[in-house]
Amino acid sequence: MSRTLPSFFDTVTVGGRRLNNRFVVAPMTRVSATADGVPTDAMGAYYEAFAEGGFAAVISEGLYTDLVASVANPNQPGLVTPQQVEGWRKITGRVRRHGTVFLAQLMHAGALSQVLEHTLAPSTLQPLGKPSASSGGYDAFRMPAAMTPDDIQTAVDCYVQAARNAVAAGFDGVEIHGANGYLPDQFLTAYTNHRTDRYGGSVENRFRFTAEVLTAVRQAVPAGFIVGLRLSESKVNHLSYRWEEGPAMAEAVFREVKKAAPDYLHLAAEGGSWKRESLYADGRSSTGIARQMLNVPVIANGGLHDLSLAETLLTTGQADLLSIGRAAIANPDFPEKVRWGKALVPFHPKMIKPSVSLDNTRVYFRETAEAQSLSSCFSPSDSPS
Ligand SMILES: Cc1cc2nc3c(=O)[nH]c(=O)nc-3n(C[C@H](O)[C@H](O)[C@H](O)COP(=O)(O)O)c2cc1C
Repeated sequence: MSRTLPSFFDTVTVGGRRLNNRFVVAPMTRVSATADGVPTDAMGAYYEAFAEGGFAAVISEGLYTDLVASVANPNQPGLVTPQQVEGWRKITGRVRRHGTVFLAQLMHAGALSQVLEHTLAPSTLQPLGKPSASSGGYDAFRMPAAMTPDDIQTAVDCYVQAARNAVAAGFDGVEIHGANGYLPDQFLTAYTNHRTDRYGGSVENRFRFTAEVLTAVRQAVPAGFIVGLRLSESKVNHLSYRWEEGPAMAEAVFREVKKAAPDYLHLAAEGGSWKRESLYADGRSSTGIARQMLNVPVIANGGLHDLSLAETLLTTGQADLLSIGRAAIANPDFPEKVRWGKALVPFHPKMIKPSVSLDNTRVYFRETAEAQSLSSCFSPSDSPS
């Protein structure tokens, strides 16, 4: 008997919700909110374009969960104040009316804040690397203070309140941002966590903070509200980082993920390459191992606008969903273009440089369009002979 392999336009169920296809917009910081972290109408248009363009789900940029310890960037939106919740309420309506599932990514920067003078982290250790100039803020990370048990409880409580705010704002769920070197990842990574209490040492202890966040958030939100988790090996400030123990570490981490029972696991490849950031020397992949060990959908990421790789991940059981980042900036209608076999606009780094802001992307597209119309004005046939 032949078994039908999944294709891009098959539906899939996540936390009881049906997604119309396998394409999800990856979370992307755009530093385009007001100085008070309130999302704007321009952000509403930005998110709605993905929904109109056929994405089954959209994950928001990382939203901070409190005003004092979690903020990462200037003009980052939050999910804390009544004004922020009201701003998001307008945007969720615009996205969801297209049948698209909209998730809020809850983000705590920990030691990697680019705006807070006093930062908190598992241990007092200077972060590697430098902040990204394209998302604004300081040009050096501050030395963080080690979190006390009270600080940890406060951080968990703030995730819970932010999740309640996500419900009030009309999101379909939240994604706990445990990837890319931010606070939950600072707990999980041995070199940023030198604690000797129940949050340090074994993988189980280093995952405890994330597990506590997931459990507390789950208890606070209504049934049917999606609670997902994003993890990664690479970090914004250490792109080449891989788990030293390779697949053995993946198995140890996913055992803890299974106990914490998120509705899905999203494995990020911040450096933009699933192959480089998810494949191990033995030929297995972190997304494939996760899919075998967990009974929830797994989202793969990293250069998956390469459609032949993306299709292979689905048909070889290495992913249920594909998250698209930079190619979605270049093509908000990525799924529709794929469906109808239309050419994709190649992503250009200038779309998010010198700033990752929406304004910068708009200027890039306007200038490119102007340059194209100018070159068509002066076609060779116009030149004097
Ligand atoms: C401008 C920009 C901002 C990003 N911000 C976030 C973020 O807020 N949260 C997050 O988890 N990942 C963030 N990422 C990482 C992306 O979600 C994704 O993992 C990365 O772009 C690789 O996917 P791609 O090859 O499809 O672009 C960001 C990436 C870009 C390009």
